[in-house]
Formats: sequence, structure tokens, C-alpha cells
Amino acid sequence: MPDCFEIAYKDLAGRIGRLTTPHGTVETPLLMPVVNPHLLMLPAFQLQEIGAEMLITNSYIISQDEELSSAAQEKGLHGLLDFSGPIMTDSGAFQLSVYGSIDVQPLEILRFQQSIRSDVCVPLDIPTPPDVDLQRAERELRETFRRLEEAALHRDDLLLAGPVQGSTYPQLREEAGRRLRNMPFDIYPVGGVVPLMESYRFSDLVEVVAAAKRGLGPGVPVHLFGAGHPMVFALAVALGCDLFDSAAYAIYARDGRYLTAGGTWKLEDLEYLPCSCPVCKKNDIQTLRESPDRFRLLARHNLEVSFQEIRLVKQHIRDGSLWEHLEGRCRSHPRMYEAFRRLTGHASWLEGLDRASKSTFFSLSSRSARRPEVLRHKMRLTRLCLSGSVLVTDQRIDRAEKELYDHVLAFKPPFGPIPAALSETYPLNAEVPREPDEESTRAAVEALSMLESACPDARFTKKIGGQRSLEGYPTEPSTVCHDPGGVA
Ligand code: GUN
Ligand code: ZN
Repeated sequence: MPDCFEIAYKDLAGRIGRLTTPHGTVETPLLMPVVNPHLLMLPAFQLQEIGAEMLITNSYIISQDEELSSAAQEKGLHGLLDFSGPIMTDSGAFQLSVYGSIDVQPLEILRFQQSIRSDVCVPLDIPTPPDVDLQRAERELRETFRRLEEAALHRDDLLLAGPVQGSTYPQLREEAGRRLRNMPFDIYPVGGVVPLMESYRFSDLVEVVAAAKRGLGPGVPVHLFGAGHPMVFALAVALGCDLFDSAAYAIYARDGRYLTAGGTWKLEDLEYLPCSCPVCKKNDIQTLRESPDRFRLLARHNLEVSFQEIRLVKQHIRDGSLWEHLEGRCRSHPRMYEAFRRLTGHASWLEGLDRASKSTFFSLSSRSARRPEVLRHKMRLTRLCLSGSVLVTDQRIDRAEKELYDHVLAFKPPFGPIPAALSETYPLNAEVPREPDEESTRAAVEALSMLESACPDARFTKKIGGQRSLEGYPTEPSTVCHDPGGVA
């Protein structure tokens, strides 16, 4: 389907978009609850009531069950699940990764998905796990490509997904993305990442997703296969993922685990219910624990908080404060914090995608020094052509002193020197701590020395925190900062 995805708002690599399917248009970022047709934890109408706009189910499971399969052929998938919105179907590739083999041919399962009128069909890709040797990753990727090419030849009016594999090899992921973006797919899932998320390897997840996204480019909708924990939504959205599927809400519930966007509790360890969803409002912890219906109630709570986090992430995209939100979320676990730091290593890529103006920049941690806006400001500084005498200061100066110089620039960590005329505009009007942290001061000093190198005809005078505060910071221009040709 040509142009089934439109982007309305952007923040970092994240966006709010509209995905059009044969059963209607939905807004992304979007979470699709996974429906197991054998084991309806919550019926579709209840999922819809909780906020599900789109579902995902497994066509392989349906196809292997005679009763379900003939009901689906007869009534269509939407009739079978009693859901009128869009439904995506997976191909059984995940079962393949768990059980080693499955009893169906790639084209057969694609045709089955088409025959039951799935809105988004997924060909039978090979979910290569993390850390396999390069030969295996390449071999399986070749086979995935072969199947995807075959699927593309048999596509119809339904949407078709083109999964990006490549194990933990960023180069393979990027190449896979680049190759697939030119093929007739509508949605691009990043696959083979469930083991990374299960073992909290979120930094590796950042590398894999960033590589796939670099290859795919910014224009196509991306699904992160198997990401259902609300803790990872902000990070995944900031990396440019648009669709998520949650089996987690039901799997965690069966295991007596209570999800929050900040982490997971075992029901037996909770003394309070720190949530205001209908389940947590109607029950106290004791009644929830003892209810014969507790797994269903817990599933409902888990889904409620998952949708709540998606709505919150969307609001932050609208406001342009996704970074600030992400900083908070990534404080919930050391592995998440590592991932956040890893994301800041992709600042130039993010800078190329990020929008130019947002709500006020809040500097909430030393990592703000790595934000795309700081990088962009540095690039712009090198284009300032100053000559004559220049004062750079973080102090108030009077008019008489001002007149002694041709230019007066304020010094504001983490940005460094800023022209007075821009001090009230985004992002230089940032709210920053009154005592800058070391990383911010270092970034500001680097920016200043870059400006000095870029303006060899200017004479600089620095009146900054009594000068002493800058001692020990590098004066050489940073090597990570270069202007890639005027993207800013
Ligand atoms: N579900 C979780 N991971 C995957 C994957 O890599 N491919 C498919 N098709 N489904 C998945
Ligand atoms: Zn709740």
C-alpha cells in the first residue's frame, strides 16, 4: 500500500505518525496487545475498552488448529477475534526460534494470512539470536532475504512487513535495512531482539535498532518485535520505533508480576498498589492477591500501565520533551542507564533527525551535554565569523565594559559561547543548573575552543567563573563534532 505512513510530529528519532490499514488508520507510537487465540486472557472487546486500537496474533497457531483455522477462513480473522480494528499477524517465526523448526512453508503461511484478511502480514523470517557467529548470521539473513523477495512477489492489497534481522552485527542490520527499504514492504519490524530484552541487554538493543534505522532511513514505520515492557517504550521510541507488541502483559500476569513503567514487582512483594487504573482503584493489594480472578485483573493492570506509558511518550513528543522523559525512565535500572548513555553516543545521527524547536530544554543530568541540540549549537558556532575583540563571559557586565569589545558572548554550559541575540530562543534559553556539572563545563569549553579555532582573526577575552573553573578542561576542539554539510 503506497504511503500508508505519515509523520505528524517528531522528537529525537521518535515520531507521532498515522498508519493506514485496510481496517482503518491508527496513530503511532502504538502498542498492539498479543492475542493468543487459544488462551484469551482478555477478550478483544475488553482490550479495545482498555485502549487497544490494533491487535497482533499468530497466524501459525491459528493455521495449526483445525477448528480455529476453518473458523478464520469462514469468518475472517476479524470475525474470529471479534475485533473491528486493524489486526497484524505474525508468521510463526518466533515459534521457529523457540522450537527449532515448524511445520509450514514460507509461502504457505503468507497465503494463509492473506486468506484470513490480516491487515499486516509477516513473511516467515528467521529470527537469528544474538551473538551467533558471523557466518550463521549472514547465512540466515540471506535466507530471510530470499523469503522476503518471494513474499514481495506475492503481495496483495494487505500490508506486508519486511523484518530486519542480522543478530548483534550492526553492519548486517544496517545493510539489511538499506536493502529492504527499497523493496515493496509497508512496515519494518526489527526482529531477533527478544533475547536481548529478556536479559536486559538494552545497550545492545540500542546498537541493533540504531543500525537498522540508519539503513531503513527515517520515512518508514518500524516495529520492535517483542517489546512489551513499558520500561523500554521511551527508549525505543526515541530510537525511531513506531509499533510495539505486548505479550508481556499476559505472560507477566500469569507469573504474578505487576508492571510499571519504572520496573516490575512480584505481587507478593507489593504492600500498596501504586497505580490508579480501574483494577488498582477497585482493589487493595490483599483482595487482588486473593482474588480467584487475579491473573486476569493483573493482565488488565499491566495493559493499562502500558497504554498509559505510550500516551505519556506521545505527549512528550508533542511537547518536544522526549529526552527529559527518557532521562527519567532510564534511571529505573542500571542497564537502562547504560542504554541511555549508549544512545548519547549516537548524537550526530539523532541531531540529523531531531526537530529544531521544542519546549524549554531542561538540563537534568550531565548527559545533557550530549544532547543533539548541544551538538547542533557547536556546529553552528563554527560558522560564526568573528573578528576584532570578543568577550566571552558568564557574568553580568555593564554597558561601559561592553563597549570595550566588538562582540560580547555569554558563556552557558553545556552550550558554550552563545550570541546575546539568541539567548532567549530554543535551545539556548535552556533551564540549566546554577552550578554546572563537569561534563557540561567540559562541553562548553570544547565549544569555546572550537569557536576560537574557527575565528583566527578574533582576539578572545574570557571572564568565566574567575577563570580558575576552566582549568584542566581540554582546549583542543572536540573530534566528534563536525559539520556534515549544513544539516542544522
Ligand atoms: N517475534 C519476536 N521476534 C520475532 C522475529 O524476529 N520475527 C518474527 N516474525 N516474529 C518475532
Ligand atoms: Zn493499575
